[in-house]
Amino acid sequence: MFEGGPSSEEYEPEAVRRQTGDAESSSASRGWWDRNADEYQSEHGSFLGDDRFVWGPEGLDEAEAGLLGEVAGRDVLEIGAGAAQCARWLAARGARPVALDLSHRQLQHALRIGDAPPLVEADAAALPFRDGSFDLACSAYGAVPFVADPVRVFREVRRVLRPGGRWVFSVTHPIRWAFPDEPGPEGLSVAASYFDRTPYVEQDERGRAVYVEHHRTLGDRVRDVVAGGFRLVDLVEPEWPAWNGQEWGGWSPLRGNLIPGTAIFVCERDA
Ligand SMILES: C[S@@+](CC[C@H](N)C(=O)[O-])C[C@H]1O[C@@H](n2cnc3c(N)ncnc32)[C@H](O)[C@@H]1O
Repeated sequence: MFEGGPSSEEYEPEAVRRQTGDAESSSASRGWWDRNADEYQSEHGSFLGDDRFVWGPEGLDEAEAGLLGEVAGRDVLEIGAGAAQCARWLAARGARPVALDLSHRQLQHALRIGDAPPLVEADAAALPFRDGSFDLACSAYGAVPFVADPVRVFREVRRVLRPGGRWVFSVTHPIRWAFPDEPGPEGLSVAASYFDRTPYVEQDERGRAVYVEHHRTLGDRVRDVVAGGFRLVDLVEPEWPAWNGQEWGGWSPLRGNLIPGTAIFVCERDA
């Protein structure tokens, strides 16, 4: 859903639906986000704000949503943090955030913006922290849509959370996979099976994945959360607000007023 084309590549990647595993997905994500971080931040940086916590293209703000609960005095892990905008917001509210991302270039943008929290370059599937290091974990479209095995990530998040810790993450709403990823009217007619879990892959001329997204149905996501050792507390589907006139890839006011674009899962680790 974030595919932006070959901004810094000479070849035109081919878009296909095919199987791809953990290693290929991770390596494609690292490469794609390293190559496209500059464009992503220049295109979306002003909407994201340097120190706002925005859950997705609808613009739902954590300051208004309060999905994490009280953050002051809490150790918080942000996964797939990009330029660490959310972590900066958390720090300003008295939390102790750590911003983790797979992409070196994304984290360089965190340094460019300044006032960066501790930054960690790592894969969400292998978190380099001791058990029980954090009170909260969060992710705004980071990592989860891009991994082949989300349960592995959830188990890692559970491991590094303290008992009772909250894990809140947003992803593209699964229903969007049934529609073309277009902001206009052409994005309103069902064109694919919602039930087809085959990953979306952009591949180079040698067939190597350069961009990957993984589809899970809503039911799959709930089962994954439970298999990862969490209780689902809420599932938030932000509505498109009247103030938001911007398009972000396939997210637009037109589609946002008719079908959900983001799903936010609010989960808790058993005490
Ligand atoms: C759509 S961006 C979201 C960034 C930020 N949360 C925001 O709202 O702007 C997705 C981020 O997830 C990161 N990412 C993708 N796969 C990852 C993985 N396996 N582990 C950690 N981060 C990953 C990417 O590098 C990228 O920065």
